Amino acid sequence: MRLSEFFLPVLRETPNEAQIASHRFMLRAGMIRQSSAGIYSWLPLGYRVLKKIEAIVRDEQNRAGAHEVLMPTIQPAELWRESGRYDDYGKEMLRIKDRHGREMLYGPTNEEQITEIFRAAAKSYRDVPKLLYHIQWKFRDEVRPRFGIMRGREFLMKDCYSFDLDFESSKRAYNKMFVAYLKTFERMGLKAIPMAADTGPIGGDLSHEFIILADTGESEVFCHRDLMQMAVPQGVDYRADLQPIVDEWTSVYAAADEMHDPATCPVAEADLVSQRGIEVGHIFHFGSKYSKPMGLSVTGPDGVDTDVIMGSYGVGVSRLVGGIIEASHDDDGIIWPDSVAPFHVGIVNLKAGDADCDSMCADLEQKFRNAGLDVLVDDTGERAGAKFATMDLIGLPWQVVVGPRGLKDGQVEVKRRSEGERMALTPNAALDRVVSGTMLDPATTGLFPG
Ligand SMILES: Nc1ncnc2c1ncn2[C@@H]1O[C@H](COP(=O)(O)OP(=O)(O)O)[C@@H](O)[C@H]1O
Ligand SMILES: [Mg+2]
Repeated sequence: MRLSEFFLPVLRETPNEAQIASHRFMLRAGMIRQSSAGIYSWLPLGYRVLKKIEAIVRDEQNRAGAHEVLMPTIQPAELWRESGRYDDYGKEMLRIKDRHGREMLYGPTNEEQITEIFRAAAKSYRDVPKLLYHIQWKFRDEVRPRFGIMRGREFLMKDCYSFDLDFESSKRAYNKMFVAYLKTFERMGLKAIPMAADTGPIGGDLSHEFIILADTGESEVFCHRDLMQMAVPQGVDYRADLQPIVDEWTSVYAAADEMHDPATCPVAEADLVSQRGIEVGHIFHFGSKYSKPMGLSVTGPDGVDTDVIMGSYGVGVSRLVGGIIEASHDDDGIIWPDSVAPFHVGIVNLKAGDADCDSMCADLEQKFRNAGLDVLVDDTGERAGAKFATMDLIGLPWQVVVGPRGLKDGQVEVKRRSEGERMALTPNAALDRVVSGTMLDPATTGLFPG
């Protein structure tokens, strides 16, 4: 990709409205543009990251045995009257009337919609268990939309729903999502900690929020410091019993503020980490909360009808873009993990128009692309300082600087964004260094050909 042809409206000044790093950098790097409070357009750089995050989320859902569907953003009010939530949901729900005066709403979530879909199809115990998910825009008319896309009104969510015959089977679905979440966030370079969460009026212990630690987070979280060192399991077989993995993670104390009571907390003060965090995922077992009022039941092996047991499992796909930036940036800008970086490498042509520089850049671009890397070439006529500042701001993991002086000695410069210093290398060594130093994620490689 040539920067001269790309759309990257960077801002040199820090926008006043941005209170936290991710919001500031997303605006400055031309990733998003506000349309109205809490509603944003995604510009090419931001959209590439959003799509890569979505691809990783999708890949882990598929691995866990969930099937993708796509439900509409607009839902009929009747569905929500069936569950009793139409009135309960309050002002956060955007209510709409169509031309016939029928009451509709912009979906804040999809429990009712998926229950209706499954109800139409499921007859017997042979039709369960099932896991269905979609990745779709949601609208919640938040009282205080803030921090850019972190707490938006319109946001992209992955929501998965499980359908089971009984609690035991439902627990297996819950465990699959629990483990899939550990792996999903790890693939994005995040340390997300599952924390026991409030299950509200339904009770039970089956709800966890997945929280990444960041000073600007909206939740206060408490956990045993051992959790920080725990390793995410590799090569998981989702058909196997995942209870041991879930037990291992849930045996260590971790709780979000509403669940934490200093008086009864079992962790010694010296071992307790108390920090702010960002909720990036939330899994929830809710039994027959929707199936019972909406009449979703199946005939059991004994011929008796029983309510289908359900759970829902959300990931804040658009929030993750901000969450990753909060977890990985410095004063100059973003530092993307390889798996979600909009481009893996930026080539800076210090003298665009110079035949040698141009052909070296084109050659490197082609070779990086052959190796599966996404490449942005700064072929603009900007001065060097501005080009370096832009590269640091947009946070590509690697920069390769090509200038006439270096080329005379047969060298280019390579900089790892996370480390900072530049080293002079031959073009081949630079190529080698960058390609071998990049961890390509199979789900995001080749997502943006050309
Ligand atoms: N207003 C929002 N803006 C961006 N992401 C959101 C918003 N609300 C929820 N999310 C994301 O969607 C996930 C699932 O939402 P849910 O748990 O239903 O929301 P909440 O915790 O706000 O009740 C959350 O973990 C979060 O990552
Ligand atoms: Mg939540």
